[in-house]
Amino acid sequence: MNEGAATGAMPRFLRACQRLPVDRTPVWFMRQAGRYMAVYRTMREKHSLLEICRQPELAAEVTLQPVKALGVDAAILFADILLPLIPMGAELEFAPGHGPVIHNPVRSHKDVSRIPPVDVEGDLGYVLKAIRILRTELPPEVPLIGFAGGPFTVASYLIEGRATRTFERTKGMMYSAPNAWHALLGRLAHTLADYLVAQIEAGAQAVQLFDSWVGALSPADYRAYVLPHSATVLRRVQALGVPTIHFATNTAALLSSMREAGGTVMGVDWRIPLDVAWKEIGEGLAIQGNLDPLALFSPREVLEAQVRRVLREAGDRPGHIFNLGHGILPATPVENVQAVVEMVHAFSLKEPGKVVL
Ligand code: CP3
Repeated sequence: MNEGAATGAMPRFLRACQRLPVDRTPVWFMRQAGRYMAVYRTMREKHSLLEICRQPELAAEVTLQPVKALGVDAAILFADILLPLIPMGAELEFAPGHGPVIHNPVRSHKDVSRIPPVDVEGDLGYVLKAIRILRTELPPEVPLIGFAGGPFTVASYLIEGRATRTFERTKGMMYSAPNAWHALLGRLAHTLADYLVAQIEAGAQAVQLFDSWVGALSPADYRAYVLPHSATVLRRVQALGVPTIHFATNTAALLSSMREAGGTVMGVDWRIPLDVAWKEIGEGLAIQGNLDPLALFSPREVLEAQVRRVLREAGDRPGHIFNLGHGILPATPVENVQAVVEMVHAFSLKEPGKVVL
């Protein structure tokens, strides 16, 4: 097969995940479906977040909204990292203005031992159904990304019962009840791996592990308390041969350990220059990132300079997927998000003899 035929057959997002040459740098955004879009806000007036997630037709519709409005190179399934906690017994509520709340947090080894096993098809079948719908509705050049939370990040919500800045109870269990901690993370790793495997079998063409908050740990603690569990998840998923994006924030000191845990693409935030991160990770992996989500609020020329800088740091190496360093914020102007897609595609156009930026 010649190069041209391969470009036509495989979407540029999937090519970049495999570090194959691309015609333009692919771009998508974490949290690209959400409150910054008027169509989403309208749907939220009629349905709660959990209702949208649990009705596959609605979840599919919300997933498609940014694909239509922005022209991104990948779709991310509309769901939430906390959904698998519901069949694990968590009384989960998304309280308006408060984010997620779990009314019966896990605090002891006894609590961990009471967590029931999860049957993904039976308990989370609505997510798999949304994936099946999306694979028939998405254009072939826009792959579908499935996802799960990383074991540390999911555990932190289950233990704290809500978002936290300090991770007091999470680290409390880690340090003071290591047996309970490892039992819990082992259970989560098993369930999250089953969940991701089921998503891939239903049609997800790539998956992202969102271990968003693991940067709260020192490298030594990451290695002792989290790495083996993340590795369990990523090993099982990577055996299926689809790209796996391993994402977290605040990870300048953790990148080499995260690489060891697994993933074929590393997601990095804006706190580390992309080229520095890539050296740390090693050039055998693809990289995703890393525009500051707040750059989307800036004047057009500032935004353009920021986009150019990220592309310049990626350079001509294959394997860069343009994204933010974390999710889009609800007050983000949609037209700036659209502009970034256009800029990334225009500035990264690969022409023979083109002088890069
Ligand atoms: O477009 C997409 O990216 C897909 C949908 C998606 C949601 N949550 C829907 C959602 C994804 C990928 C997530 C992941 C998620 N959820 C993470 C990891 C990514 C990250 O931001 O670090 C985390 C930590 C959560 C847990 C969670 N869910 C929190 C902390 C909150 C409240 C904060 C907030 O942004 O409102 C949610 C709610 C949530 N999940 C919303 C959406 C669109 C907003 C709620 C609403 O619509 O009312």
